[in-house]
Amino acid sequence: YTAELDMSDIEKGTYPHYMLKEIDEQPAVIRKIVQAYQNESGDLTIDGNIISAMGAADRIYIIAAGTSYHAGLVGKQFIEKMAKIPVEVHVASEFVYNMPLLSENPLFIFISQSGETADSRAVLVEVKELGYKALTITNVPGSTLSREADYTLLLHAGPEIAVASTKAYTAQLAVLSILANVTATSLGLSSTIDLGHELGIVANSMDGLIDAKEEMEAIAREYLSTTRNAFFIGRSLDFYVGLEGSLKLKEISYIQAEGFAGGELKHGTIALIEDGTPIIALATQEAVNLSIRGNVKEVVARGANPCIISMKGLETEEDRFVLPVVHELLAPLVSVIPLQLISYYAALHRDCDVDKPRNLAKSVTVE
Ligand code: G6P
Repeated sequence: YTAELDMSDIEKGTYPHYMLKEIDEQPAVIRKIVQAYQNESGDLTIDGNIISAMGAADRIYIIAAGTSYHAGLVGKQFIEKMAKIPVEVHVASEFVYNMPLLSENPLFIFISQSGETADSRAVLVEVKELGYKALTITNVPGSTLSREADYTLLLHAGPEIAVASTKAYTAQLAVLSILANVTATSLGLSSTIDLGHELGIVANSMDGLIDAKEEMEAIAREYLSTTRNAFFIGRSLDFYVGLEGSLKLKEISYIQAEGFAGGELKHGTIALIEDGTPIIALATQEAVNLSIRGNVKEVVARGANPCIISMKGLETEEDRFVLPVVHELLAPLVSVIPLQLISYYAALHRDCDVDKPRNLAKSVTVE
């Protein structure tokens, strides 16, 4: 594989910031991933060696940092729900010094946009010494984590330049969904979905969200232009997207933001809710729709200012924004986009350096 670098990929063009350009590229990236993983008959496929390694594993360990860790949390759900293989997700820097008891036949999956994160590499070195197989999911062909693992799956997202990761996250989710679905098919499971079709719907829905920038800017102005803190709540997959939304917001706007499981808030953090505290709540999952709305009521009763983002079919009149319908498992690929855009506009309103936030590096090559 040779990386073909199109100059338009690394220039901002008419965009004021790389981050906005990269947010906008997401539908095209999803379509490119579908193309890249399609065989001649149009089916999504993955290298047979990788699928055999998945099928042979009694447990999968996903190792990652930052945004890639958040993608891993969603990836666990894809693999467990579709391919029925148990998955643990670990922050790389913790795993190195505090290794859990491993199963008999583990498979390690490293998720890393750059393929260079030192914390993840330290785990890979250890795992190779123990003689286990490793797969790296990365955006950078030939990167350290790709070279040192047994297998690689590429993200095909094109260079990501803004420090805050956007298109790499949705690309990671798309590739993880393909990996899970192809594994499920090879295991003869009935839990597969028509993924090529569903990812097409995701890409089209993303187009619509990217056109909703004015609305996202209005939300950012209304909820986030002066606040000191903000909370993201959700249950199940929405919880994981909330973690990513809160990371985006802290990284680029320096607003203290935290993501919580809807039901956990009352066990402590609710003490922080004051008059007007912004709560961004996601409601894309039918099974937890009523309970997350109950959690919103709890915080509203304490004065919070709620911004509910729901999925069509689950919406109520109080919702601030309604997402188009996609397959429920793939909801994170679309629900993250408003959160990326809201963070972007919040950072702009607060005069922050969107592409190069203070104290952060795009790729962290020290442990
Ligand atoms: C840095 C970046 C984050 C990124 C993390 C992991 O901290 O600022 O945006 O998520 O590294 O990077 P990786 O390249 O391994 O995905």
